[in-house]
Amino acid sequence: MADFNVTPWDVSGAIDYDKLIMQFGTKKISPALKERIQKSAGELHPMLSRDYFFSHRDMDLALDEHEKGKGFFLYTGRGPSGPMHIGHLVPLVFTKWLQDKFKCNLYIQITDDEKFLVKQGMQWEDTQKYSHENILDIIAAGFDPKRTFIFKDSEYIKNVYPLLLKTARKTTMSTAKAVFGFTDSSNIGLTFYPAYQIVPTFFEKKRCLIPSAIDQDPYWRIQRDIAESLGYFKTAAIHSKFLPPLSGTEGKMSSSAADSAIWLSDDAKAVKNKINKYAFSGGKSSMEEHRKLGGNPDIDVPFQWLKIFFEPSDKKLQKLHDDYKSGALLSGEMKAALIEKINTFLAAHKEKREAAKESIRDFMHEGPLAKRMWEQQF
Ligand code: TYM
Repeated sequence: MADFNVTPWDVSGAIDYDKLIMQFGTKKISPALKERIQKSAGELHPMLSRDYFFSHRDMDLALDEHEKGKGFFLYTGRGPSGPMHIGHLVPLVFTKWLQDKFKCNLYIQITDDEKFLVKQGMQWEDTQKYSHENILDIIAAGFDPKRTFIFKDSEYIKNVYPLLLKTARKTTMSTAKAVFGFTDSSNIGLTFYPAYQIVPTFFEKKRCLIPSAIDQDPYWRIQRDIAESLGYFKTAAIHSKFLPPLSGTEGKMSSSAADSAIWLSDDAKAVKNKINKYAFSGGKSSMEEHRKLGGNPDIDVPFQWLKIFFEPSDKKLQKLHDDYKSGALLSGEMKAALIEKINTFLAAHKEKREAAKESIRDFMHEGPLAKRMWEQQF
């Protein structure tokens, strides 16, 4: 029995990412692939050099196509089940980096339909409210409005319904059951939904590259089985690990464990209190012992968050690591370093989110890519 579980709707346990690569049939990002990305992009994002993005499908083919001048396009998404936490922003920050470096179009799917179908207690009106709120947070990540189209499933459906049907007709119930674990008690809306998450990979006659955490990979497996028979490319994907919850390095930061998440709307005081109160520490139980024996950065959540996202400088990160291990740096000091970084980040995020209220129409309806997409029938 596996001691961890990763599906699009549930992530739990101590995830063995190498095992996951074997289970999912993806490939590890090799040093050679990193070198190629660095050459094409001009630099390597810390999320790649630190192996936070660790796995892929056909990223090498996407790079080939970039080098040949054909290029690729990007696609990612968000299920508006509630407010967003920093774990949701991590893949978006990396996506923005890819868009900047490779100058490509980006499609962002807002799956109001999926969340309505998955969450029994969710009212339709809630999905609409959260869609709007989440889109502002997404825009705040800094995407190029000329090259980005953000669409809500229930609104864009009229442009894609024929393509959605072509996709759905290629996918049997037994495949959907095997890939997603649907049972006789799954509602029929949810069994149809995966076809819609596949459709955006067909928005251009180029290869699509999907940056996201690895929980979304099951969809891409089906996409890759059917794409060519519909006249499209098999999608490429680049997968990240999960930002862990405050409570420890197992599972993922998730909306369902509110104390274990930092919300993008949290104020400075809430961030400080939560981290001081709930962040799992790799330090020793007394200061004397810690000074003598040192702490363990590998299980220290504040250090892990700094490594994944909040400390871009390799030099500073290494110093935090070494000082913590030697006992020179205390757990409270590691927490303080993280609190400072998060609060600076969130203050800037909130300003950008405010500004997004002005540009939401460009991303969804009036920008050049958005206009083109609304004129197109798939
Ligand atoms: P959702 O809303 O559950 O998650 C949005 C994105 O955030 C990633 N994610 C995380 N990444 C790191 N650490 C975490 N703790 C964490 N929690 C969530 C997810 O992998 C995802 O990339 N069905 C999708 C919406 C969707 C989509 C897509 C996502 C539609 N099309 C294409 C990615 C790519 C969903 O509900 O995501």
